[in-house]
Amino acid sequence: MNYIAVKSYESLSKQAALLIAAQILNKPNSVLGFATGSSPIGTYEELVSMYKQGILDFSKVTTYNLDEYVGSDENDKNGYRYFMNEHLFSKVNVDMDATHVPNGVCEDPTHEGKRYEDMIVGAGGVDIQLLGIGLNGHIGFNEPDTHFPDTTHLVDLTESTIKANARFYANEAEVPRKAITMGVGTIMRARKVILLATKGKEEIIQRSMYGPISPDVPASILQLHPDVTVIEVI
Ligand code: F6R
Repeated sequence: MNYIAVKSYESLSKQAALLIAAQILNKPNSVLGFATGSSPIGTYEELVSMYKQGILDFSKVTTYNLDEYVGSDENDKNGYRYFMNEHLFSKVNVDMDATHVPNGVCEDPTHEGKRYEDMIVGAGGVDIQLLGIGLNGHIGFNEPDTHFPDTTHLVDLTESTIKANARFYANEAEVPRKAITMGVGTIMRARKVILLATKGKEEIIQRSMYGPISPDVPASILQLHPDVTVIEVI
């Protein structure tokens, strides 16, 4: 594990953006794995800024996002496709057809999981995957479980995740109950992983990186990943 300790969210964002920028500069047609949530917003701002300065070209990249709520389409302001369009895709020269988020309004979410996984494999796999982490150790929407789910699949969100997400909705009843997420296996097959740990994540990072490897703490499996960089605000 590579570990970068930083003093601020701005530094975390800059460090993460530099790693992604290096990936794109080394391989312009990289397959980038993206996350949503509050942790990566600053990283996307840095990437947009590097694009505007002429340092980065997104025209050849392909992107795959970790997850999407069942029921969310591109117009849902709390949906993850909307988030990515808003924070990154509409601000850089990425080919929109090369950006992928699981389809939250598909007919059959189980089939959508398989379709999404097959597309990632067909693209040659993810070169670099950006991750946030939930307070319960979830990565993507892989919640604490009795096993590590392998491929992209349909999940029921846990009460703690529903409560954490409620801040974005008028009331808790409106928070989606289901999502489609890359599996832990999908994440582990990415060639590089960057894990963002913002303030307040110290305890779960400690448990994930130094505790027992167990599906109770999904992020703990990253201890077995050959190229993971944890960037933590301390
Ligand atoms: C987002 C995702 C989630 C978040 C995690 C942390 O696509 O898959 O696992 O990364 O819930 O969220 P924040 O960054 O809001 O603390």
